[in-house]
Amino acid sequence: MPSSLPNPSVPAYMPPMTRPLTILGIESSCDETAAAVLRLEDGRVTLLSDVIHTQLEEHAPYQGVVPEIAARAHAEIADKTVAAAMKDAGISYSDLDGVAATSGPGLIGGVLVGMMTGKAIAQAAGKPFIAVNHLEGHALSPRLGGDCPFPYLLLLVSGGHCQFLEVRGLGDYKRLGSTIDDAVGEAFDKTAKLLGLGFPGGPAVERLAKSGDPKAFSFPRPLMNRPGLDMSFAGLKTAVARAAAEEPLTEQRLADLCASFQAAVCDVLAGKAQRALEGFDPGEGETIRFVVAGGVASNQAIRTALETEAAAFGGLLVAPPLRHCTDNAAMIALVGAERMAAGLVDATGDLGAGARPRWPLDEASATLDPAYATGLKGAKA
Ligand code: KG4
Ligand code: ZN
Repeated sequence: MPSSLPNPSVPAYMPPMTRPLTILGIESSCDETAAAVLRLEDGRVTLLSDVIHTQLEEHAPYQGVVPEIAARAHAEIADKTVAAAMKDAGISYSDLDGVAATSGPGLIGGVLVGMMTGKAIAQAAGKPFIAVNHLEGHALSPRLGGDCPFPYLLLLVSGGHCQFLEVRGLGDYKRLGSTIDDAVGEAFDKTAKLLGLGFPGGPAVERLAKSGDPKAFSFPRPLMNRPGLDMSFAGLKTAVARAAAEEPLTEQRLADLCASFQAAVCDVLAGKAQRALEGFDPGEGETIRFVVAGGVASNQAIRTALETEAAAFGGLLVAPPLRHCTDNAAMIALVGAERMAAGLVDATGDLGAGARPRWPLDEASATLDPAYATGLKGAKA
């Protein structure tokens, strides 16, 4: 191909921007419909609004997220959520510099609702649309609070993901290891379901664990002593099910099961964190920052266990405030703003971006992981 012709396989980006950027973010990949407006100026973040509508009530009778119900609920409330975020921010659409929406990974119905809402606003207001990877939102969420420079080690623990990553810079993520079966949040949710504790499981298990004995049951610590950073949680949930079936479930026994389950999770995450910290080099003279993000990062016992590991390496554990551990739109707006500032937004304004229900944070790993590879194949719909 003559060099004067554009090469369609190389994305063209807008130029980097040094002026203050005001971005509307939209999140709808699972069971939260959220919208937020954020301003990024000289690397400083100001959150102008942050609206989160959870669908807990809609899904509670089924003890889990029902994709069809989630999609309908997003469709019913997306416009009102965005309107509330704009009103709280006290700005009009013409004041925005861009509109960012989660474009995957997640439940396709919800992702499409958020993307279509975002694209419609972007087009009507004549602003660029920014298709955001939800995992990148979690990965950058500690930066909503300020002081968390690159590079840092990240443990991303949510309902659908559990992975260690090296966050080297914006858009530069290296996956070091991940769960080979259930995500940690999924293990909390399934454990809570089998114990009849309702949904979502994480907060319920954590609450009961406080009055339980973590040594009452010796549950397995899967893959903990295996080299590498891959993890496994499916067996742990099965062990809880077996123990729960042995005797009638009294209040104390329930609490003991929760405490013992949570202790096993803490041990596995701490053991793997130690290995990850051993291999992490922040650069000469730099402080080690170990970030835990995603819904499970709300868990205080897990935070404490990880804090101990970070401290053993002279490092700092950084965790977003609870509101920004679980799904939110502030983190999506932040990705949009940081990408725009760095000149990493599609030059076309990205209205042609497709939803990607499976979208790995580090594209390189897609070729290694068959699950990701399958998702990628049919993803750019
Ligand atoms: O990040 P998130 O809001 O959604 C996903 O992207 O998946 O994470 C939701 C997950 C659920 O599995 C929920 O049970 C778990 O985070 N979670 C917790 C706690 N709070 C939420 N897990 C353990 N302890 C908690 N306190
Ligand atoms: Zn999430």
